[in-house]
Amino acid sequence: MNKDTVVPRGPRHGQPLPPDEAARLNAILDRWRTTPGALLPILHDVQAEFGHIPANAVGPIAHALHQSRAEIHGVISFYHDFRRTPAGRHVLKICQAESCQAVGSRALTAHVERQLGCRLGATSADGAVTIEPVYCLGNCACSPAVLFDGELHGRVDAEQIDRLLQQARARS
Ligand code: FES
Repeated sequence: MNKDTVVPRGPRHGQPLPPDEAARLNAILDRWRTTPGALLPILHDVQAEFGHIPANAVGPIAHALHQSRAEIHGVISFYHDFRRTPAGRHVLKICQAESCQAVGSRALTAHVERQLGCRLGATSADGAVTIEPVYCLGNCACSPAVLFDGELHGRVDAEQIDRLLQQARARS
């Protein structure tokens, strides 16, 4: 930890991070603090480390980058990739961009929402699956496309989604 390391405190965002989590956050901040335009890489690293952006990490990030908490919150809310709460055991990203919409991704999303009993952007009550929107997976030729636990699937229909969900549930 260098002398500039910020010890996270979160008076406006709940309790400070527990010491082990604070150390993990500080390691990320130390890695990036002198790099211009470091906010996005920091947020990506924080999400990779914690599975989401903890609310009480926002203050230390803002402090390290000499920005306001509002600016950090603004960026977190702008990018759909950043999560404010932990994801389920599995993450299903359904493409909502034009090419996929044209061949039924909205209906596919509605089907998944019914199957899981939760809306896009939320996690099923049993914590098994989080469904998230994504805006083009670079697989437009095989629309509709989804990314399930990091694996790309194309020309997906309701039957295939059900099979993927069933296999995931069997594994978890
Ligand atoms: S629009 Fe869905 S993969 Fe490109």
